[in-house]
Amino acid sequence: MSITTVVGTQWGDEGKGKVVDLMAGKADVIVRFQGGNNAGHTVIVNDDKFELHLIPSGILYAGKKAVMGGGMVVDPQALLEEIDGLKERDINFDNFFISDAAHLVLPYHLVLDRLEEEMRGPENLGTTSRGIGPAYVDKAARRGLRMGDLLHRERLASRLKAALNYHNRILEKAFNQEPFSYQEVFNSLWEAGRRLAPYITNTALLLDRWREEGKHIFFEGAQGTLLDIDHGSYPYVTSSTTVAGGVCHGAGIGPGRIDQVIGVTKAYMTRVGEGPFPTEDKGEQGKKLREEGHEYGVTTGRPRRCGWLDVPLLRHACRVNGIDILALTKIDVLSGHREIKVATAYRVDGEEIFEMPTDTDLLGRCEPIYETLPGWEGNLSQVKEYSDLPENARRYIEYIEGKMGLPIKLVGVGAERNQVILRGDL
Ligand code: IMP
Repeated sequence: MSITTVVGTQWGDEGKGKVVDLMAGKADVIVRFQGGNNAGHTVIVNDDKFELHLIPSGILYAGKKAVMGGGMVVDPQALLEEIDGLKERDINFDNFFISDAAHLVLPYHLVLDRLEEEMRGPENLGTTSRGIGPAYVDKAARRGLRMGDLLHRERLASRLKAALNYHNRILEKAFNQEPFSYQEVFNSLWEAGRRLAPYITNTALLLDRWREEGKHIFFEGAQGTLLDIDHGSYPYVTSSTTVAGGVCHGAGIGPGRIDQVIGVTKAYMTRVGEGPFPTEDKGEQGKKLREEGHEYGVTTGRPRRCGWLDVPLLRHACRVNGIDILALTKIDVLSGHREIKVATAYRVDGEEIFEMPTDTDLLGRCEPIYETLPGWEGNLSQVKEYSDLPENARRYIEYIEGKMGLPIKLVGVGAERNQVILRGDL
């Protein structure tokens, strides 16, 4: 029996999909514990490409259980579209479970996400416009609706009325917008609820039963550590707990139950949306990384900002997640760079600092201090053995291991499921 968590160590888009997919193959149960359809995993199986936003990648494996945990926020319409799209491609949903405690993303959350971003003007966060922030606000304000409410017509009606009573006032009075019609929202929600009802259940209870039966349970994190509401570059973050601790409250598992945390890091860094990014390369090399790494958002299509690996940020991620093992993705994308830069410290206000500051404004002023490693040439996409990687690629990998004091047990060399080098058992 083992319980493993995979988390992103950067600003999301670390290539977790590949690692998650690989680990999902070994697990019996695959669980998402936070976030919503702001996430996007691309998984390529044979020549088929799947883009998953809400549903855990375990759904792609026959016989495995896929669970959406209570820490998620779920847009029922988006979920139904994803289910329908996968069913059309013959994916089976017999082992699919949605927590009755997961919160709903409702139409007014989408509108509020857009309006709040507009109101922030040049200070906007660059959200994915999926209503994620406003849905988590309602959860914390205790006026949210939950998946379980979809099962009870009267309760759904009364909770929706109360929520709309609040939100329509805000929309009309603060933002000068049209109110939502209670009846329309109710009808579409109830209809969605009828279709989702067979999957809605107490997933925390199920997870505990499966754990006792000795099943392998795998938690797939979405977004990344630097987008965590508490440990990220606040306020340029998402609204959920993206770090490994989020598994406990987001899925209802005690901290002592988690056996292993795997941190996924891309061989370079990217960020979508606003906020500081000390090692961002706005020049030719950054452009090369974007094009060769296909760095465009799965969810929004936005071009990602690109730059170099940042040791203080990675060390922070290893620490706050309690990472045991690292997985390094997209090393193939670095081929063809004469030199590879890695930030090992920052210079700020005349001082040298070695750790990520909590103060995001300070992080924004940090000038990276780089070490430069020699690059390498050649297409790595077919490399299967670690020893067959160019010497300088191995040197880069071992350099990161040395800086983090952690083993890199998986190296990604391409988007396909099998384009991966394993170094020992995961
Ligand atoms: P939100 O999660 O839509 O509220 O967006 C907040 C911030 O998180 C924005 O900078 C988004 O670009 C970023 N973000 C949210 N989800 C992802 C993701 O899956 N990958 C990368 N960035 C994300």
